[in-house]
Amino acid sequence: MGTALRGAQLARLLGHWHSLPGRRRSPDYAALAGAVRGLLADGRLPLGVRLPAERELAESLRVSRTTVSAAYGQLRDSGHLTSRRGAGSWTTLPPGHRVASSGLWTPVDDLDLLDLGCAALPAPPELVGAAQAAVEKLPRYLGGAGYHPVGLGELREAVAAGYAARGLPTTADQIMITNGTQHALDLVLRLLVPGGAGVLVESPTYPNALAALAARRARVTTHGLGADGWDAELLVGTIRQSRPALAYLIPEFQNPTGHLMSADLRERVVLAAQAAGTDLVVDESFVDLSLAGAPMPPPVAAFDRRSRVVSIGGVSKPYWGGLRIGWVRASAPTVQRLAAARVGVDMASPVLDQLVAVELLARAAGIVAARRRALTDQRDALVAAVRAELPEWRCTVPTGGVTLWMELDGPVSSALSRAAERLGVRLAPGPRFGLDGTLERFLRLPYTLPAPALVDAVGRIAAARYDLEYAPAQDWAAPQVFA
Ligand SMILES: Cc1ncc(COP(=O)(O)O)c(C=O)c1O
Repeated sequence: MGTALRGAQLARLLGHWHSLPGRRRSPDYAALAGAVRGLLADGRLPLGVRLPAERELAESLRVSRTTVSAAYGQLRDSGHLTSRRGAGSWTTLPPGHRVASSGLWTPVDDLDLLDLGCAALPAPPELVGAAQAAVEKLPRYLGGAGYHPVGLGELREAVAAGYAARGLPTTADQIMITNGTQHALDLVLRLLVPGGAGVLVESPTYPNALAALAARRARVTTHGLGADGWDAELLVGTIRQSRPALAYLIPEFQNPTGHLMSADLRERVVLAAQAAGTDLVVDESFVDLSLAGAPMPPPVAAFDRRSRVVSIGGVSKPYWGGLRIGWVRASAPTVQRLAAARVGVDMASPVLDQLVAVELLARAAGIVAARRRALTDQRDALVAAVRAELPEWRCTVPTGGVTLWMELDGPVSSALSRAAERLGVRLAPGPRFGLDGTLERFLRLPYTLPAPALVDAVGRIAAARYDLEYAPAQDWAAPQVFA
């Protein structure tokens, strides 16, 4: 998305902004302003974007210019829009709000909010011991300048050993350490995706990957996931026929659906990518978080004979996002090219954090086992609560990862998220995981909070769903509605 939106683009993002099923209608201008606030709150509409002129948007939405004018006026009053005569209107962060780690907006004072917008765990108790051990090792590095563009040798060795343990022989020179998986993706896209190149992603997919692709001005197409995951014939056929420059896939406990790609499809996708000249980027963020105890399929790169697969991963999901340590596994020459690209971006990752990661990886068995136990209990508590409170909702219970992808009882995800916010629950609505306002029938629910908090959150979500159906319109469209 650029810095100016056309009327038709905003209309597409807004989707069914004024016709929520079963609700008494609020005035069109208030519903329009509420829908724009919703897009801003869940990150689909970035800050600093110029909105279409009133007349253009009115034409695209087939409403009167007075309606758009009044909606823009309300957005200006609430601080979501700043206008300059003759120049246009830009989206802005209202006073008293900040951008949260998930990219969603949140009130500054949100301590009581149950945050189901972000799918990440708090740090494990072993982190402090790992950090202390890392500090002990730090003097070894203090004599040098501290810049290691491909990462510390000992961390690269440890990550390579992790791949070898998964059945994929890997040398340290095939590993580059980054500041998290997202940074790894951004660097890989800089190297492999020229502006305007075609990129295939799953739908739904990880929203920050879509943001990274938008920054590269990639031409994104999607492969839709169903209740059972990937459609093998369609995925392989799409790669062979549309020959994207790159495909970005999350084969292990896909975010947000939780699906695990079979070994057979992994092999077929690699063969198709090789035949099509497509670079395959596999995001292995959740690979350690299998909850089923069954053996995992081989890594996608295990089927790669022509260095077409780039694997990215990191410590955020099994250990802690606050460390900002991730990595790329690629051919040694690609690693060198990535390191060269990095010099113009961030130069290198922090030495101390890399040492903490080495210590955590050395303690992996105990930490990951505890993570899996906690996540299994939390997943089961969340599934049971949803079944009890919202029996019409459906999902395929995932065998790993940290999220449920719920199919709702109607296309109400954005409206429900806005209503839940007022009851103290932050949600990431379905459309955030796709392009152009689709996926309104879906909602991602992470099970990264403790079980009692999840049960509490589901109670509030069920109340919000009820309100959406039956509460008087003016009540839920009140101007103080957050974002
Ligand atoms: C699929 C996927 N990739 C990347 C990331 C970002 O990971 P990191 O914190 O390592 O940058 C996430 C975090 O939620 C994710 O779900």
